[in-house]
Amino acid sequence: ARLDARNTFGVRATAELLVEVTDTSALPELFGYAMLRDPNLLLLGGGSNLLFAGDPPAAVLALATHGIRLLDDDGNTTHVRADAGVVWHDFVLWTLGHGLSGLENLALIPGTVGAAPIQNIGAYGVEVRECIHVVEAFDRQHNAWLRLAATDCAFAYRDSLFKQQPDRYLVTAVEFTLPRNFVAHLGYAGIGEELTAMGVHNTPRASQVAEAVMRIRRRKLPDPALLGNAGSFFKNPIIARAQAESLLAEHPGMPCFHGSSEHTRKLSAAWLIDQCGFKGHRDGDAGVSSEHALILVNHGHATGLQLLALARRIADAVHARFGVMIEPEPRIVGAAW
Ligand code: EPU
Repeated sequence: ARLDARNTFGVRATAELLVEVTDTSALPELFGYAMLRDPNLLLLGGGSNLLFAGDPPAAVLALATHGIRLLDDDGNTTHVRADAGVVWHDFVLWTLGHGLSGLENLALIPGTVGAAPIQNIGAYGVEVRECIHVVEAFDRQHNAWLRLAATDCAFAYRDSLFKQQPDRYLVTAVEFTLPRNFVAHLGYAGIGEELTAMGVHNTPRASQVAEAVMRIRRRKLPDPALLGNAGSFFKNPIIARAQAESLLAEHPGMPCFHGSSEHTRKLSAAWLIDQCGFKGHRDGDAGVSSEHALILVNHGHATGLQLLALARRIADAVHARFGVMIEPEPRIVGAAW
């Protein structure tokens, strides 16, 4: 099966077998088949956070399950369950349409509900873990269903238990805790500015925050339907505070953020790459967005290997200039980083 339309970079890739599952109760039986028991089986969501540097080494499995339902509602908080195959942005709109908030800052993130906990998607000051109640998954190693509370998922910046052991856990559904009383998360300065530009001067509604986020994203991030990409290609590096301070002394304009620990700082990978002159750069059809230095783009016929080669060049240049290692955010299939 061709996977060109199943990866947002739009690169060529072929799977020897592609299994689409519409009924998750069939999973224990399906995983009994040798081709699906293969430890190299690739679990595919929306294909918006991976790079096919080669063909997947074994079969590919995707979930085509699309249910969303309200579990309970005590007037203050609700629990909502969504199947893994639901398109993430459609789910965000569904919650807003039901008067629920919490996910508005995460509007327009590509991918599926099932993929959201894997890298703990985050944007504009919010991470999905803050709204996750339970992740339901099938553990392929032990052939068992699991219901994991958010506190058992090892969530961190763009990381989780599921990401640390790729393809072991197939996330089948996610249950969210969503408040009825809306509290706006306006920590990211750009949202307040966008709301003002939209003419919203009083306390915004959740749908207005979502609208502001969508406007910012549409302006800053290339639409994968028009220009192949997988969003941020590198994670923002977290480095020792002392190293950040000496870099700041040399580059006073460098963005530098406080992270979860007093001893570390988070830098902007986009800024580091931009300083190395890669914004808008092209090696054939493999390029860097001219709007945002953190986004690798496929101008048409780039192969996954060409995009990977460009990514390595960028990481090497950043390391040579700043002594900081940047690591890919998307998963690389068919080659090692
Ligand atoms: N910057 C540059 N050059 C550029 C672009 C940005 O120097 O070409 C600098 C600017 O100083 C800017 C700073 O980088 O202030 C940060 O840029 P931005 O606000 O766009 O955020 P980011 O750190 O590049 C992260 C996430 C995004 C998320 C935004 C907004 C990661 C790896 N990326 O990007 O997530 O949408 O913040 O919260 O953490 C994704 O993961 O795919 C993704 C798009």
